[in-house]
Amino acid sequence: MKKLIVLTGAGMSAESGVKTFRDDDGLWQNHRFEDVASPIAWKNDPELVMEFYNQRRKQLFEVEPNPGHRALVLLEKKFDVRIITQNVDNLHERAGSSNVLHLHGELKKVRSTINPNLVYTMDQWELKMGDKCEKGSQLRPHIVWFGEAVDMIGPAVEIVSKADIVIVIGTSMVVYPAAGLINYVSDDVPKFYVDPKAFQVSGISNLKVIRKKAGVGVPELVDRLLSE
Ligand code: OAD
Repeated sequence: MKKLIVLTGAGMSAESGVKTFRDDDGLWQNHRFEDVASPIAWKNDPELVMEFYNQRRKQLFEVEPNPGHRALVLLEKKFDVRIITQNVDNLHERAGSSNVLHLHGELKKVRSTINPNLVYTMDQWELKMGDKCEKGSQLRPHIVWFGEAVDMIGPAVEIVSKADIVIVIGTSMVVYPAAGLINYVSDDVPKFYVDPKAFQVSGISNLKVIRKKAGVGVPELVDRLLSE
């Protein structure tokens, strides 16, 4: 089976009602990421950071996968599909995709502040001050904040470097190291990029840009790949 790698960003979930970061109504228009998504923010005002992620986690209970998420599941009939997502929501999993790697963490998970290996899955949305790990230290969101290492980048590079086909969906490709993953894909590999405002692409060979929303562009592309 050919290895088909999908790289997704916030635009993938936009039509499910999850805000992106850098579009006009995006999350970073109303919040400074330094105030809610950094280790300094956590040190200075953990309640504010927790509240920011509690609201995001609460929203997971109100949103559903969109036709783009669901179309990606169909690709598994014909391809060995690996999804590498920058998203912290769980919409790929809920749509039914079997192989999802989260580069920037997961809203549904929290972890110990003294031992990062103590990771727990939340079944409700609210994390509070005083919620502790089994060692007695405060739990924090299981999110990669600005300035923190992206531990999953090594496995992600390994996966993309073996790709036979790559689909990039709904990302502004400005946040590294995620944005650099495309550079590990061989020149001869067919690449598709579905995003209504696809970034200016230069130096990436074999790339077809599809300027459509994920909910429309992804099902069309999936139909085509399945019928070829
Ligand atoms: P951005 O907000 O930077 O970019 C969203 C992209 O989605 C843009 O290119 C939009 O054109 C596109 N888009 C919007 N609606 C769409 C739709 N319906 N269908 C398809 N595409 C659509 O989000 P990311 O690139 O994911 O990191 O941002 C990367 C990282 O920056 C995030 O993971 C987050 C953020 O800071 C952390 O919080 C660590």
